[in-house]
Amino acid sequence: MTRFFNVLNRFLAPAAAILAVVALWRLIASIRFSAVRDGWIALSHRQEVIYGISLIALLLWIVVLLGWIHSKRTLGATQGNKIMDILDRLTNRQALEARLQQDANSEIIDATALADALKSKVIGQDHVCDDISAQIRRRLALQQRGKPIGVFLFCGHPGTGKTYLAKQLALQCRRKLLHFDMTQFARGSGGSMLFGTPKGYVGSDSYGKLTAGLRDTPNAIVLLDEFEKAHPDVHTNFLTAWNDGFITEASDGRQISTTRAIFIITTNAGMEALDELQSRLENEAEELRKVSTNVLLENGIAPEVLSRIDRIFIFRRLHGLDVARVTALEIEAMIGSYGLLVREGGIDPEVLWKFMETQEKLAAHGSSRDLVRSIEESIADSLIEQKQAGQTSISLLYKDQKIIAVAGS
Ligand SMILES: Nc1ncnc2c1ncn2[C@@H]1O[C@H](COP(=O)(O)OP(=O)(O)OP(=O)(O)O)[C@@H](O)[C@H]1O
Ligand SMILES: [Mg+2]
Repeated sequence: MTRFFNVLNRFLAPAAAILAVVALWRLIASIRFSAVRDGWIALSHRQEVIYGISLIALLLWIVVLLGWIHSKRTLGATQGNKIMDILDRLTNRQALEARLQQDANSEIIDATALADALKSKVIGQDHVCDDISAQIRRRLALQQRGKPIGVFLFCGHPGTGKTYLAKQLALQCRRKLLHFDMTQFARGSGGSMLFGTPKGYVGSDSYGKLTAGLRDTPNAIVLLDEFEKAHPDVHTNFLTAWNDGFITEASDGRQISTTRAIFIITTNAGMEALDELQSRLENEAEELRKVSTNVLLENGIAPEVLSRIDRIFIFRRLHGLDVARVTALEIEAMIGSYGLLVREGGIDPEVLWKFMETQEKLAAHGSSRDLVRSIEESIADSLIEQKQAGQTSISLLYKDQKIIAVAGS
């Protein structure tokens, strides 16, 4: 309809308008020069025909113009209906609408299910698993935020599961993990690896790793491991990401949204003091947050960074059987990396006891990871031998002050 009026308006309207103007001009001239007969302006037959046609043209033009304006106004509404018509004709619109609704609802997650899934993997950090799941649920439900879903800080001793929890979270939430070891960015220029290089400099033909990552997967979990080890200039680069909801790729100035991403920052800074605070203020979340912020400030995390953190999670040091659990899992993974399985009940409790003892002695200065590394060095050869002998599963025994791998039965 709009097209019809467009055509009419383009070709007919100018002609009608010219005729109307001529008619008006002639009419005025007639009034001035024509005789007045019986109170009416006297017109010749020719004049009457011309004026008649001109009047009809004028009316026609007005109708075309009004029709065109009306059809323009209703275009928005009719276009919407047209889309629905197409969907009704070519697909099952109701099913598609239901799918859209489902997608919108999928942003509302089951926090308890997520927490349970995390707790089944991450040992001794139930308080973090519960809290982060609730936080993510709340933040995902927000329709408008203009900032990332969350900027979370994980603090704690080495080997307490900070990186591991971030990885598990990505797995459970089915989000891609963009993992950055921030120790690589100890120099101020390190930011170009993450955010790209300005035009004219070497490397400006490709995007930075973070900008490219978020361009391709905007809903990723960005893990900034050991954040405090990066240069302060690199820290500053993240401020717009957290505050304004975008990062800028230096090579072409493109802004890339961070509003669908979750940022996780890990740090070992101030862990001794935080450890003490965590056990003292276990049930006073607000106070704990306040004092832990002060501790982190004193330990070199810049105030502008801290002010943008949504939540601080303090990881507990692992004790007793939790050390044994984590160690057993790590031993299993290490043996698995040689293509072997641990026989059920195959780790001598004495092996784990030795780990727990050493861990207590090392206190904050060592993690189960270091211990597993040392055990790997001592048993690697026997693992290879078992593998060569065609074994698929093995057991670990503690004998003569040594750990040995034997064939599992
Ligand atoms: N709480 C835990 N539950 C289960 N496994 C754990 C836990 N803590 C550590 N691990 C195991 O130890 C490995 C190392 O842990 P992780 O890298 O998460 O430590 P971290 O806290 O990030 O230490 P760092 O501060 O040195 O980076 C993990 O891959 C995992 O196998
Ligand atoms: Mg880590």
